[in-house]
Amino acid sequence: MKRILSYFQDQCSLRWAARGLTKSPRWAEFAVGLEAELPRLIELLWSLYGSRPDFAFQFEELIAETFEAFCARPGQLREYDHMHPPETGLQTDGSQVGAVAYVDRFAGSFRAVAERIPYLQELGISYLHLMPFFLAPDKENDGGYAVSSYRETDPALGSMADLEALSLKLAEAGIALVVDFIFNHTSNEHEWALKARQGQQRYQDFYYMFADQAETVEYQAHLRDIFPEHRKGSFTWDGEMARWVWTSFNSFQWDLNYRNPEVFRAMAAEMTGLANRGVRVLRLDAVAFIWKQAGTSCENLPQAHTIIQAFQSLARLACPGLLFKSEAIVHPDEILKYIDLRECQLSYNPLLMAELWEAAATKDVRLLSLSLAKRHHLPPGCAWVNYVRCHDDIGWTFADEDAAELGIKGSDHRCFLNDFYLGQFPGSFSRGVSFQYNPLNGDRRICGSAASLAGIEKALEEGSAAMLESAVRRLQLLYGIAYSAGGLPLLYLGDELAVLNDYSYLQEPAHAADSRWVHRPRWSESLYKQRTDEASVAGRIFQQLSLYARLRRRYKLFAVQALTVLDSGSKAVLAYHKQAEGQLLTVLGNFSEEAAVIPAFRLSALLGERQGENLLDGRIILPHEDLTLEPCELLWILTDFSAAD
Ligand code: GLC
Ligand code: GLC
Repeated sequence: MKRILSYFQDQCSLRWAARGLTKSPRWAEFAVGLEAELPRLIELLWSLYGSRPDFAFQFEELIAETFEAFCARPGQLREYDHMHPPETGLQTDGSQVGAVAYVDRFAGSFRAVAERIPYLQELGISYLHLMPFFLAPDKENDGGYAVSSYRETDPALGSMADLEALSLKLAEAGIALVVDFIFNHTSNEHEWALKARQGQQRYQDFYYMFADQAETVEYQAHLRDIFPEHRKGSFTWDGEMARWVWTSFNSFQWDLNYRNPEVFRAMAAEMTGLANRGVRVLRLDAVAFIWKQAGTSCENLPQAHTIIQAFQSLARLACPGLLFKSEAIVHPDEILKYIDLRECQLSYNPLLMAELWEAAATKDVRLLSLSLAKRHHLPPGCAWVNYVRCHDDIGWTFADEDAAELGIKGSDHRCFLNDFYLGQFPGSFSRGVSFQYNPLNGDRRICGSAASLAGIEKALEEGSAAMLESAVRRLQLLYGIAYSAGGLPLLYLGDELAVLNDYSYLQEPAHAADSRWVHRPRWSESLYKQRTDEASVAGRIFQQLSLYARLRRRYKLFAVQALTVLDSGSKAVLAYHKQAEGQLLTVLGNFSEEAAVIPAFRLSALLGERQGENLLDGRIILPHEDLTLEPCELLWILTDFSAAD
């Protein structure tokens, strides 16, 4: 095998020389990286495409196009690459704070986003994910996740040039631009799909197409329905082509066929193209679904990893400062497999997200503690993206085997959590909305804004000051864990002002059937004005999140991914340590609506017999006294071992 690969490599070199590439003034510089990457890249792609007759041709073109992207990379981005190799990118910097927003809902246009930079700076934001803003079908487009062109923007938001100008302004303000790489599918209006519809075989091969429904059956038997309320099955009939098309998500989102090396090559060009516009991090959408194999669930197959690693390898050649963030909302064991310096340096942490809400409902932190102890660890140089809410639903993706360790039955627990967050369980504080109920297996997910799920909506409606106090603290608590657990916290913009559910989506025909729109917030000028008013709910959340960000900048220990889970002695109180350079942070979070007491003997063990300071309010915590945590209270207690007593 080694000999085949090295023969292939020699042949490639000859062909690049024959094409004149090697005479180009920048080839020598490119060749340094190429020499390092080539054996790996060939091996990865050979394993997928080695038996294809067009492989050599596609590979030669792929490298030629990657070289073009390398040459086209703007000077300031090359400088950035030089300063920020992927091993020590922003994921290793504890002062980072992320945020995510829709361009239209947050500001209106790319230009208007630039005007909101000072606002982002008040929140300490250094990473901004703009939700998909590409050209997309007019009516339904899955919130932009059905892309018609990766080279054009939704004209209502501005042009690609405006986006590039924004990326520069963000960079000047120390904010990295994060954009989606929606590489599992295109919209059915993408140029490739249109050509496929015209009957061009070359483009029909860009997708998975079947003339006979019988051919889909052996796949279908093992697939799950992602949006069961919208449709059954993963295939859509296209009358024009007289073909069934693979559509894992909505019928207008056509899955790309990565068994075709030309698809890989075409998407690699889109990837480097985006990077050269100033994108620092690509959010790899729906990573689990990109390889299909009959007889399997077609999720998380080994080839999906090979493809991402090959993209990563190409990024190192053309745009080495680019980082990848994985979006895998799957079993925690599978999530982990995408996280590696040579694959995705960053990953959403859906487990922490789901279990924060789980602990808030149960007032019991055992499952959360177990997961943190067992599953928080990552390979060196990689980081979690810790979030509380995002544009998608909440799925209860904890591992059933973890729950079983605690005597909890996963399926029953999910039913309870759904009832609780729909507000149907007695004593629930939540106002949530159901998403994608599947009567066949009882599955359901939950939508709702963080504020509404945390109890603020209900408390305001019922006029209960005590409930409101707990709800505000609960939201601060959940975000306070996301900001301190280790990794990069991601603020879903709107949450900082405690934006409530927006039920107006029910009146919009293109949104009414998709309850995720209930929590996709629009900018609110009146809430914005309250942000400095600490007597208001919005002000309390905003000020607290700003404080978390300032503290992250001040203390190095936030750069440490690892944490040590501790036994607080109370099932409602989460406790963990973060440690660096002689400093110890003890995080204590009370998930209950009752006060909780940590007895002195336990507290002194937690604090290492030293007194500490609660960084969140400056209070001195004495180790030899009982400590009372108010309902839903969070403490970040710093003890400094480097200082003399
Ligand atoms: C991702 C997105 C989600 C979208 C899906 C299909 O999971 O987060 O919003 O529906 O991919 O692109
Ligand atoms: C499923 C998918 C996930 C997607 C979500 C959208 O959970 O696994 O990728 O974001 O559905 O609702």
